[in-house]
Formats: sequence, C-alpha cells, structure tokens
Amino acid sequence: MNSLDQLVYCSRARLGDTQAVEQIADIVHVSTVRNARVGITGALTLRGDVFVQLLEGSPTELDILMLHLHFDARHEDIVVLARERIAQRAFPAWGMTAPRPDHLATGDLDRLIAQRSTDIGSWREALGAAHAA
Ligand SMILES: Cc1cc2nc3c(=O)[nH]c(=O)nc-3n(C[C@H](O)[C@H](O)[C@H](O)COP(=O)(O)O)c2cc1C
Repeated sequence: MNSLDQLVYCSRARLGDTQAVEQIADIVHVSTVRNARVGITGALTLRGDVFVQLLEGSPTELDILMLHLHFDARHEDIVVLARERIAQRAFPAWGMTAPRPDHLATGDLDRLIAQRSTDIGSWREALGAAHAA
C-alpha cells in the first residue's frame, strides 16, 4: 500500500496588503493544478498575517513541496508543527482548498495559531476536514 503522510505548518505571509485576496486565489489556483498532478490534497488559509496549510500525500511528494515552499518569497518563517502517517485523507475532494471563513472554526484556528499547536487532529477539525483520518 502507498504511504500517506499529513502535515501542518504555519508561516508568516509577506503579501502586499491590497493584493492579499488575489495572491491567495493565485496560490490556490496553482496549487490545485500542481497538487492534483502529484496526489497532494489539503487546505490553506490566512489568518491575519499567518498562513496555515495542511497537506497530505506521499511522503516524498510532501518533502518536495516543502522544499519549494521554502523558496517562495510570498511567505517566511515556515514552521512544520506536526507530521504523521495517516490511513485516509481528511481533505479528499480537492487539490487544495481555501475554506470559506464561515466553514472555518475561526476561534479554534486562532487559538491553535497562538499556541503553535502540535495537535494535528485539532488542526484538521478547525480547517473543516471531511474525515478524522
Ligand atoms: C502559503 C503558500 C502555500 C502554497 N501551497 C502550495 C501547494 O499546496 N502546492 C503547490 O504546488 N504550490 C504551493 N505554493 C506555491 C509554491 O511555493 C510554488 O510557487 C509553486 O509550486 C510553483 O512552483 P514553480 O514556480 O517552481 O513551478 C504555495 C505558496 C505559498 C506562499
């Protein structure tokens, strides 16, 4: 069976204030296409100036993507908070989704960000996972 890993990281956005919405739409668009090609799914959101992204896919493809992300000038200070082997995807339906604010448990998300939580299950829930994984 092919292994599946899930990870969550935070980073600090370096987006121009006025273009934040367009830039996120662009990131999600590119990610959806590229991720679908390599079997990565997940969720991306921005709270204040903090990106949170949950990624799931083959361990090798996740490693490659994380390497790309480190060279992307649109954010900095990437911290991987948790990574674990999973049995099934929590976000199976999309290449990459930007959950609408009303689909996010925003209070929980802000608390998890403040804590830099390492509890990946809580991140999954706050980001609106379809499955517990
Ligand atoms: C916060 C953030 C999240 C991103 N998430 C992804 C992602 O899930 N998948 C992806 O392919 N690129 C993602 N990107 C974009 C990559 O850093 C990179 O720009 C993209 O993979 C295109 O790389 P290339 O120009 O070398 O082809 C993200 C960028 C940022 C700033």
